[in-house]
Amino acid sequence: MEKKIAAIVQKFTEAAQTASDSASIERLRVAFLGKKGEIAELMKDLKSVPAEQKKEFGQKINQLKKDVEGRLNDLTEAVAQKELEVLIHSAECYDVTMPSMVETGSYHPITLVQRELEDIFAAMGFTIEDYDEIVDDYHCFEALNIPKHHPARDMQDTYYLDNGQLLKTHTSAAQNAIMRKYGAPLRAIFPGRCFRNEAIDACHENTFFQMEGIMIDKDISISNLIYFMKTMLSEVFQRDVQVRLRPGFFPFVEPGFELDISCQVCGGTGCPSCKNSGWLELCPCGMIHPNVLTAGGIDPEEYTGFAFGLGLTRLAMMKYGVKDIRTFNSGNLKALSQFESL
Ligand code: PHE
Repeated sequence: MEKKIAAIVQKFTEAAQTASDSASIERLRVAFLGKKGEIAELMKDLKSVPAEQKKEFGQKINQLKKDVEGRLNDLTEAVAQKELEVLIHSAECYDVTMPSMVETGSYHPITLVQRELEDIFAAMGFTIEDYDEIVDDYHCFEALNIPKHHPARDMQDTYYLDNGQLLKTHTSAAQNAIMRKYGAPLRAIFPGRCFRNEAIDACHENTFFQMEGIMIDKDISISNLIYFMKTMLSEVFQRDVQVRLRPGFFPFVEPGFELDISCQVCGGTGCPSCKNSGWLELCPCGMIHPNVLTAGGIDPEEYTGFAFGLGLTRLAMMKYGVKDIRTFNSGNLKALSQFESL
């Protein structure tokens, strides 16, 4: 027994000298400590040792096992260190001390404004809804009290698909679906991308963003509408912004208004962004027409509500002093990466 132990120690010591990578160490581990390894065989031999020597040899075998384990662990560590060094000095290595070259992107200014508005309205109890960009004629027009051949459609020419669907011209296209989904009472905002067949200039784009809001409940009036608009604007601009309310016509509201804000680019003196008027149409709004409520499955005798269609793109222009609307879709990172990140 004694001899056998010594032989194994010798065999292991020799084998360990040539184990130079993790695979060969693993082979050693199996050969000596595995189920059918050298030490397991020794344990079997222990059965035939006379009873009075069992204890002594048992202890010796255990010690041997510990030594082999310890040695194998040391070897594993040394080899891992060596392998790491090889990796570090090879061509593909990474120098962890190099300054970081990672470029982080920035949020699009419209995203920034949209998120800010979402927070403001969420705090006032509005839910935030998502809606399609491709819609049908019913949702974009008819459900909004704009029948076929109504002159109001002229203002909202858009892009039609072969199957008769169209790219939505305004976020109002979601009103009907949201009324049907939740019923009354209801407070919701729904931001979205809109499309129109426009002649493009510094303040008109064929692709732009709006944020619609509707609030429907018992006894909602124009004063509620004005309150929410004022709160929202003072939060966004963090100062008093001059606004004016003009009558405006939209078939889906009655009465309807245009809410203008003084041009924040020129301070109201007139510039290309505001077509030299000093004012910018920012938020058409009004009391939801009874026909629209009915189409949405809500009884206009019981409920009233207001709706607004905030020009998100316009608001971003005002907030950040962007003079040309075309900047937003330009993909020009020099211009678009300047805005504070969230
Ligand atoms: N959807 C209208 C537009 O884009 C704006 C609007 C929304 C007007 C809600 C009144 C109420 O022109």
